[in-house]
Order: sequence, then C-alpha cells, then structure tokens
Amino acid sequence: AKSGFVDYDYLIKVVVVGDSGVGKSQLVARFTRNEFTTNSRQTIGVEFATKTIDVNSKKICAQMWDTAGEERYRALASAYYRGAVGVLLVFDVTNARSFKNLAHWLSEIKAYTVDTCQMILVGNKIDLQGNRKISNDQARAFADINDMRYMETSALQCTNVEASFTSLVSDIY
Ligand code: GTP
Ligand code: MG
Repeated sequence: AKSGFVDYDYLIKVVVVGDSGVGKSQLVARFTRNEFTTNSRQTIGVEFATKTIDVNSKKICAQMWDTAGEERYRALASAYYRGAVGVLLVFDVTNARSFKNLAHWLSEIKAYTVDTCQMILVGNKIDLQGNRKISNDQARAFADINDMRYMETSALQCTNVEASFTSLVSDIY
C-alpha cells in the first residue's frame, strides 16, 4: 500500500510477552526508536509501537503489542493475542524465575493463538555476564523442545535486538 501516510506491503501484529522486568519494553524501544532507559516504568495493560522492516524485498509494518508482564495488569490477555502472527517470548538470563515461568507463558500462547503463529524465545540482559543464571545451552534446549528459535539479546548494549525481531518476521513472510 502507498497512500500518503502508509508505505508498506503488509501490516502484521506481533505480541511481546514474558515476566515483568525482563526488558520487553526496552527491547521494543531499542528496536523501534533506538532508545534505552534505565528507569523504565512497568507497562500497564499494553503499549504499542510500529516499525517497518524489509523482508524478502517486501515492506512489512510490524505493529508491536508490548504487554504487561505483571499479572494484575493483564486484564485482557486473550485480546492481546487476537490476530497475532508472531510472538516474542522474553525472559531475563539473570532471573531464573523468569525462565521457569516460560511454561506458563507457553500455555497462554497456545491457548490464545492460532497454530500458524510464529514464536521466538529471547534471553535478554546478556550484558550482565556475572549475574547469569540460565546458560545458553539450557535455554536453547528448552527452545528446541518447544519448537522455537532462540536468541540472546541486550537491549542496553543493542545486541541482537534487530536480529531477533527480524528473524521472527522472516519466519512469518
Ligand atoms: P513490564 O512492563 O513490567 O512487563 O516489564 P518489562 O519486561 O517491559 O521490563 P522493562 O523493559 O521495563 O525493563 C525492566 C528493567 O530492566 C529496567 O530497569 C530496564 O532498564 C532493565 N533492562 C531492560 N533490558 C535490559 C538489558 O538488556 N540489560 C540490562 N542491564 N538491563 C535491562
Ligand atoms: Mg513493559
């Protein structure tokens, strides 16, 4: 489509989920605006951001639904997933609990998305080397079992952020 305001071939919905504090909002901020904030505020409900990327010479406008990880701020979980073609599932490599909770997130994703929905598992905060609790091997094994790609990122240092989102979108188109 090319009609003054829009300039893309496809508009897709991508949902970003995972425990509170794992860095979902900062990954989205880095990807869409190349920004990072240390004193990031908890997301209430859902925040939106878009970014158009080129995949196989098509312009794909990805509409990101950056959801709240905190249970009490997730009033409309089923609505967040409606129409989604991709899910970026995020945990924090320095937070074992956020890794353990992936099973919960996967069951929610399975309940509310269609089978064709693509997923990628992202282990964020790899800049905090000394605090790492979940190894690359451990996360990769979990991703393999659950039929997902796995990538490690740092929203702070801008490592693999674009690659993760682009990889997810490439799996869709
Ligand atoms: P909710 O909105 O509550 O679900 O949390 P969230 O997943 O959106 O987390 P958010 O992006 O707000 O980040 C939480 C905290 O982690 C903030 O203090 C960020 O600055 C910090 N943070 C995010 N990404 C990174 C990273 O790659 N490295 C480091 N060191 N800190 C990060
Ligand atoms: Mg957030």
